[in-house]
Amino acid sequence: MAKHSTVASFVPVQKRWSLMILLCIALSTAVAFFIGASFNSCNSVEYPDRHNFNAPVQSFSSGGTTAAKEENPLDFMKSKFVLMVSHELSLSGGPLLLMELAFLLRAVGTRVVWITNQKPAESDDVAFSLEQRMTDRGVEIMSAKGQETVDAALKADLVILNTAVAGKWLDAVLQKNVARVLPKVLWWIHEMRGHYFKLEYVKHLPFVAGAMIDSQTTADYWKNRTHERLRIKMPETYVVHLGNSKELMEVAEDSIARRVLREHIRESLGIRKDDLLFAIINSVSRGKGQDLFLKGFYEALQLSKERKLKLPPMHAVIVGSDMGAQTKFETELRNFVADKKIQENVHFVNKTLNVAPYLASIDILVQNSQARGECFGRITIEAMSFELPVLGTAAGGTMEIVVNGTTGWLHPAGKVGVTPLAENIIQLATDVEMRRTMGTKGYARVKEMFLEHHMSHRISLVLKDVLQKAKRSIH
Ligand SMILES: *[C@@H]1O[C@H](CO)[C@@H](O)[C@H](O)[C@H]1NC(C)=O
Ligand SMILES: *[C@@H]1O[C@H](CO)[C@@H](O)[C@H](O)[C@H]1NC(C)=O
Ligand SMILES: *[C@@H]1O[C@H](CO)[C@@H](O)[C@H](O)[C@H]1NC(C)=O
Repeated sequence: MAKHSTVASFVPVQKRWSLMILLCIALSTAVAFFIGASFNSCNSVEYPDRHNFNAPVQSFSSGGTTAAKEENPLDFMKSKFVLMVSHELSLSGGPLLLMELAFLLRAVGTRVVWITNQKPAESDDVAFSLEQRMTDRGVEIMSAKGQETVDAALKADLVILNTAVAGKWLDAVLQKNVARVLPKVLWWIHEMRGHYFKLEYVKHLPFVAGAMIDSQTTADYWKNRTHERLRIKMPETYVVHLGNSKELMEVAEDSIARRVLREHIRESLGIRKDDLLFAIINSVSRGKGQDLFLKGFYEALQLSKERKLKLPPMHAVIVGSDMGAQTKFETELRNFVADKKIQENVHFVNKTLNVAPYLASIDILVQNSQARGECFGRITIEAMSFELPVLGTAAGGTMEIVVNGTTGWLHPAGKVGVTPLAENIIQLATDVEMRRTMGTKGYARVKEMFLEHHMSHRISLVLKDVLQKAKRSIH
């Protein structure tokens, strides 16, 4: 141990810098969550994950597939032409995921054309730099409408619509050609909020080749809602869980990088080496449950006092604030902290695209998304790759990631979950061994099912299936 700290403290300043810069660059695409004012539940965008199939039959169960990668599972896409339709171009989860898929396909030589359906009126630096990044990788950017686009849609082997809202593009642009394109559409859905269940967006859903959804829970929910609310039937649905990017895994598996980042972040927050640090890393909004987390955290502090537990000082960091926005909810969180006089223990950090430094610096991740929970919740698998135990709500995709009692503890969503969360906080705080074991098991679970190559493999099965169907429908 002593040896390790010596190493870390002698990492020269220059190396630190290059490390930081490297991290920023490497992670900026892969891990962009926040941004985009308020994510309620699984709304605008979250991250997909593995797949197994639900609608009619088939199940490509993802667990336990051979991790060894002899060849790229997407190789068969080499000479294909894929048109991607993104509802917008921003640093939110949906577009970034689609971009990741674009890059995976480019890496095997697929021709990829990208369309952004809703371009912002004024010029937008973020969109510009994202387009730049795509062009650099050989993705062709095309205007959302016009004859060229219609021709591309007719010619493509596959059209991937991203998010429910992108459904608006079909009629608006393709018009009388819609029916010809639908049989080769794969619709990637990352949202679970009620207002997406509108015929305006999804009336063509029953006629596409397939829907790809981030978690089983979300897929079930879509099946129910489309049936009950809209009286339409889901097409064949593939559940595809997400995987961690290689860049993130590199940092997670680099003990020096982790140590440097840990020291750096703790120093900046004024948290000592052996203090216990809990974090919730999501854009601050009621749907993500930062308020209930703080209540649970406060209750845990009280319990620890009442029970006279000998615990290291406990801290909570809320990563994902937007102090500039001054929303009612942000104010409510700060007032709570002030009222309870726990300013010393609670830290707020602005939204950031680069979550790795925080994952390196904390001891436990809290995933407290409320109501139907996360569609998937990519931060959860990211935290597990840093060997962190997770305290999560028993809702949405979290239940498909966190194994209760093995890689973390689940508590109910809603107010009823506050006390169980507080107890779970205490339990992990008092039991170093449990934290370590759960962290190790979480990491093993990520290695087994939540890596990029797992995702590529799962997506490749979906693409194969959809291409086959598209071909059949033409003949
Ligand atoms: C779907 O509906 C069925 C029956 O109405 C219900 O049992 C099930 O819990 C619902 N599932 C979801 C995810 O809403
Ligand atoms: C956080 O964001 C606000 C505005 O949104 C800004 O004023 C403040 O300086 C930021 N804090 C840090 C530490 O970057
Ligand atoms: C998690 O496991 C604990 C201990 O077995 C149990 O009390 C709790 O109800 C479980 N939570 C969920 C959501 O299954």
